Amino acid sequence: MKIIHTARSMAAWSERLRREGVTIGFVPTMGALHDGHRSLIRAARLRCDALVVSIFVNPTQFSPTEDLAAYPRPISRDRALCREEGVDVCFEPTALGMYPEGFQTIVTVPALGRRWEGAARPHHFAGVATVVTKLFGIVQPHLALFGQKDYQQAALVRQLVDDLNLGVGIHVRPTVRERDGLAMSSRNVYLSHDERRIAPLLSQALRIGRQMIVGGMSDVAAIERTMRQTIEQEPSIHAEYLAVCDPDSLEPLSVVAARAVLLGAVRIGSIRLIDNLLVNKPDGKSRATR
Ligand code: PAF
Repeated sequence: MKIIHTARSMAAWSERLRREGVTIGFVPTMGALHDGHRSLIRAARLRCDALVVSIFVNPTQFSPTEDLAAYPRPISRDRALCREEGVDVCFEPTALGMYPEGFQTIVTVPALGRRWEGAARPHHFAGVATVVTKLFGIVQPHLALFGQKDYQQAALVRQLVDDLNLGVGIHVRPTVRERDGLAMSSRNVYLSHDERRIAPLLSQALRIGRQMIVGGMSDVAAIERTMRQTIEQEPSIHAEYLAVCDPDSLEPLSVVAARAVLLGAVRIGSIRLIDNLLVNKPDGKSRATR
């Protein structure tokens, strides 16, 4: 496996392969790789000839009060996982390489980025959209893979790829969960023993919401109230949002339509966890996901 640190070498590698007709799959990450990333890498492997994983803790998607300095960076373990999974290139740029002095351009996706995570973390999605656009420009993949766990991020990336004609296929893979339902996340390592014990309440609340919809309930307020009550049975979890939304626009629904996404965020101590579930009402026409 090659480890590449500069945009110039990364782009040269990709350009050579593209000229040879090799298809390039790409999994952008911030490292601290877990089985969710592993499933993205494996899915990319099946679909492309060559595989690039980027490991870059992107400073512009953290606010000054967030955990940039403390974000886990187990680089040897991450490289070992990439090697094990047959990754061809680990792209590990530096912050200065990505954002040299004089850097100015910011990519924003205003409507999709406004609510939910965008409201809780005002600069977050501009940072994500900008770095993903840069990474696509450098790596020049045919296909990039994202986890459904970050549903809003995946929606926003699809939108920017369409809007800016980036010519990268986007494939979103289902969330990988621990046995008790907790969505895998690099931030789960921050949870103390007691916090870890109650963290699955978020996925439980979303599952209850989904059951209500599948069972025929269309009163969104009642569904959201039940999800919130499920969380609030445990006083040390605070529900930030639990919402029934349109799966494409992410706008809140007032009546459940054929398809919906349940989005949730909770805070346990200083740690925020997010999760989501897609729902197709049994009588609704299911539409293939893009
Ligand atoms: O999902 C992540 O790990 C990050 O937001 C991403 C897409 C790698 C951009 O920094």
